Amino acid sequence: MPVVEKQHLPYAAVVLTGGSSGIGKSFVSHIAKVDPEVLICNLSRRKPDVNSAQLKLCHVEVDLSDNRSRSDGLERLLEVLAQKAPSGPILLINNAGFGHYGAFSSADSERYQAMVELNVGAVMAVTAALLPLLRERGGAIMNVASVVAFQPTPLMATYGATKAFVLHWSHALRAELAPVGVEVMAVCPGSTQSAFHDEAGMSRGSMGDAFTQTADQVVEEAMRALRRGKAHVVTGWLNKVQCWLSARLPLTWSTWASHRVLEKYRPKA
Ligand SMILES: NC(=O)c1ccc[n+]([C@@H]2O[C@H](COP(=O)([O-])OP(=O)(O)OC[C@H]3O[C@@H](n4cnc5c(N)ncnc54)[C@H](OP(=O)(O)O)[C@@H]3O)[C@@H](O)[C@H]2O)c1
Repeated sequence: MPVVEKQHLPYAAVVLTGGSSGIGKSFVSHIAKVDPEVLICNLSRRKPDVNSAQLKLCHVEVDLSDNRSRSDGLERLLEVLAQKAPSGPILLINNAGFGHYGAFSSADSERYQAMVELNVGAVMAVTAALLPLLRERGGAIMNVASVVAFQPTPLMATYGATKAFVLHWSHALRAELAPVGVEVMAVCPGSTQSAFHDEAGMSRGSMGDAFTQTADQVVEEAMRALRRGKAHVVTGWLNKVQCWLSARLPLTWSTWASHRVLEKYRPKA
């Protein structure tokens, strides 16, 4: 983990989804190191296992793919915030998500339904639940999208479409919420070391670790971009080049190119 400079974050509380693993867990460690005074409320099925004596963590156990569990979890979250969060701005990080690798026909509809519920439904539901507080206290929303948001993604068709939603939705929400002082930013990581690839049933690609970021690197770049007031950030220089090109190609060409790239993530037999 890189050395993290202690500073005061301009937030009284951080609410994040998916803090138990990967990028979310790095957000928890980063915030606890940078500003231990900040209350962190995490929503996921497992409790984050973060080793820090300074951590002020509230865990709300919730399955964000499930409508019933999600409504109960959000009710509990609002109670926790009312009881424990000091007054001041709130940072919401919508991070939880998963993917599935393979042709659309390679998984059953329940898996895709759960993916859309988590990657899209939960992002909207958690944001809607916190919006009154965000408007009242001020703050920011950071939505974790992906580099796959910039072009159609054969072999990850549904996952890519959920992330395109997150990117476009974040930009639109940013414009709507600017007048009330709530910032919105999308984070677009490329291949990142976490449990994501195993969960999606894909290999780690053919480009090797040199081009794969750590979750800590993604979080450092995301927090820096938020401080600078960016609308979205693509993390990692290679990912920046790839997204810049993809966004400028006709859709049929970028679809062809992403298909060739994603074929390299086919799991070895
Ligand atoms: N790793 C990459 O290469 C990569 C690249 C671009 C974008 N991303 C995005 O980054 C975000 C974080 O992924 P990651 O790489 O850190 O993967 P990860 O290590 O698999 O973490 C996923 C997180 O989401 C939570 N989650 C999954 N299903 C959930 C559910 N039903 N209810 C509540 N929480 C749930 C998990 O918590 P529990 O299991 O405890 O519920 C976990 O904390 C995702 O949105 C992903 O799409 C990842």
